[in-house]
Amino acid sequence: MPNHQGFILWLTGLSGAGKSTISSAIAPILESRGKKVELLDGDVVRTHLSRGLTFSKEDRDINIRRIGWVADLVARHGGVALVAAISPFRDVRDEIKRTYNNVIEIYVNASVEECAKRDVKGLYAKAMKGEIANFTGVSDPYEPPLAPEVELRTASETVDQSVGRIVSYLESRGLL
Ligand code: ADX
Repeated sequence: MPNHQGFILWLTGLSGAGKSTISSAIAPILESRGKKVELLDGDVVRTHLSRGLTFSKEDRDINIRRIGWVADLVARHGGVALVAAISPFRDVRDEIKRTYNNVIEIYVNASVEECAKRDVKGLYAKAMKGEIANFTGVSDPYEPPLAPEVELRTASETVDQSVGRIVSYLESRGLL
């Protein structure tokens, strides 16, 4: 029997930890297993749904609540909402988990040092020079999940390994 249960895969972690890379890599795999997938990436959401929001705690919380609300619409219709957002604050992440069904928290763990070394967008260098205020991991907090469903360590595992671990978890839950 194919499983048509929708769910939300919520990837949290620092900028540059690998959230977008992993979500883009897992999307076609989920599609090949018959899932309808919608990707909600923080960078993209902030150009549409959350355009104009800042990186204050208040605005980040609004961003996360909006993403959660949309992700739930997708999941309620049997789809998979793949969320890739820093979502640095534990209280709002926990609120999302309490509010909606089938929220699977994936902690994309890479240290600030590792992310700053990668610095794909050049933002850490700027943040460290004081050119970007409230930059997560540099001048703003990141509160790691205490009990994520899956924790990925992207400095020591490949993208394929990380994706494989998420797939295994979903299979173990009967969601795939
Ligand atoms: S969240 O905190 O509200 O979840 P979100 O994932 O939407 O953040 O956006 C993060 C992206 O915005 C980063 O990957 C980075 O490209 C960009 N960005 C710009 N300013 C900041 C900042 N002060 N802190 C973190 N990310 C920032």
